[in-house]
Amino acid sequence: MRQAMVAGNWKMHGLHARNEELLAALLPSLQALPDRDVEVVVCPPSIYLESVGRVLAALDGDIHLGAQNVCSQAGQGAYTGEVSVEMLRDVGCTHVILGHSERRTLFAETDEAVADKLRVALAAGLTPIVCVGEQLAEREAGETEAVVERQLTAVLAACPSDQLANMVLAYEPVWAIGTGLTATPDQAQEVHQFIRTRIARVDATMAGLVRILYGGSVKAANAKELFAMPDVDGGLIGGASLTTEFTAIVAAAGAH
Ligand code: PGA
Repeated sequence: MRQAMVAGNWKMHGLHARNEELLAALLPSLQALPDRDVEVVVCPPSIYLESVGRVLAALDGDIHLGAQNVCSQAGQGAYTGEVSVEMLRDVGCTHVILGHSERRTLFAETDEAVADKLRVALAAGLTPIVCVGEQLAEREAGETEAVVERQLTAVLAACPSDQLANMVLAYEPVWAIGTGLTATPDQAQEVHQFIRTRIARVDATMAGLVRILYGGSVKAANAKELFAMPDVDGGLIGGASLTTEFTAIVAAAGAH
């Protein structure tokens, strides 16, 4: 049985006062959810990891802290502007989003760069949330599976097979991110199943354990239907993670 996960990707949103306001509104409602069997992760911008982490630490590990990116080089070194896995651990991070489509398209992250980051994250004991997904033109050209297969092949090459279940995948069709267009539950399920089947070619047992999140305009109104699909194990939430709607999405994940 896979435990559901809902991760909130704040992207480049927030300021100290705004974060405090959001957490003050969000955390009590999350904690009040009855029998919540959902792993919840909050991923603020790196400069706010420590302050948000301090608030979450008071909840005794009930809600996890995640980063949105990490340097592919571990340790210390001359990498101006970068943050290492050790630094993420040092401020209390347990999770890290890797290969988000915004990093791939706006910051030219290649499949290989994502794979390098995955290696260091796993070695540091962080739980990577690795994003894959096709652009609209690729979907329209019938290339969805080929694109996801290519991205996944790099990921699987970087992940030792005994660590597959330590990784979380997120299928995020790029055309659904921040657009209000959501994949239908059937469209999501189709790709999630494809991903799980591809992982099963490496290790069938692990494929049954790996969690695959859906991301792309998940809202309280559509979360239930999406999370009801057999291979959808929760969500990676952008816009709706900046409001108390996030709690309703977590509740929807806990209902399965
Ligand atoms: P969205 O973003 O929920 O705002 O579409 C999802 C994501 O980019 O992770």
